[in-house]
Amino acid sequence: MMNERLIVALDVSSQDEALKAVKDIGPSLRFVKVGMELFYSTGPEFIARLKDLDLKVFLDLKVHDIPNTAQRAIHVLSKLGCDMLNVHCSGGLAMMSQAQQALEGNTILIGVTQLTSTDQKVLNDQLGIPGTVKDSVLNYASLAKKAGLAGVVCSPHEVVQLKQTLGSDFITVTPGVRPAGGEVQDQKRVMTPGEAIAAGSDYLVVGRPIMGQSDRREAFERIVEEMEAAS
Ligand code: C5P
Repeated sequence: MMNERLIVALDVSSQDEALKAVKDIGPSLRFVKVGMELFYSTGPEFIARLKDLDLKVFLDLKVHDIPNTAQRAIHVLSKLGCDMLNVHCSGGLAMMSQAQQALEGNTILIGVTQLTSTDQKVLNDQLGIPGTVKDSVLNYASLAKKAGLAGVVCSPHEVVQLKQTLGSDFITVTPGVRPAGGEVQDQKRVMTPGEAIAAGSDYLVVGRPIMGQSDRREAFERIVEEMEAAS
């Protein structure tokens, strides 16, 4: 069921707004992403509230610190009952493997490779990483796999090569998804929902193209239909 593979980014700053969005989208919504804005304003209790609504929760806090600190953070976050958590791959192998070992219950850990707002110019000129974005994503993803992580966050453009190199069961979670003709905003490496599914992406993360629409349910359903048509 494609609706289970569409993760809606609840990028709002209060519990009321988040719960309204869940209600607006309706019962086919199965998986939500809670990012820094919502988590920092509502606190850990809100994760339990979402779980009570029978939703899967991806807590997107992009942990990045020394291995011991990252490990302890991931340990307490996984005890909240989240289904998916993430760390930045740029934290390195030791940080990722210690974080992986700190997981409790059924939580899976994925690595953030390069943000989908990063293009080659930013990568080379600002971050000081030579080569293409794809090279860097592949390098980080290989490191994540070596550390035992379940998968990575990447742009849909990298999925085909990543699956070829690291295996089809290595999970890819892809933001940077924009319905055909929609506004791109600050995302740079974008694909349509159909293209992302056809490329082999396991989960699509979509925020503004649903959250910013007057009819959120219709926007969500339209994306699910696009995903279904491509599978
Ligand atoms: O509104 P939009 O569809 O661009 O939202 C994408 C979501 O995915 C945002 O919450 C953003 O923080 C997140 N994200 C991303 N790129 C990554 C990791 C997470 O856009 N590499």
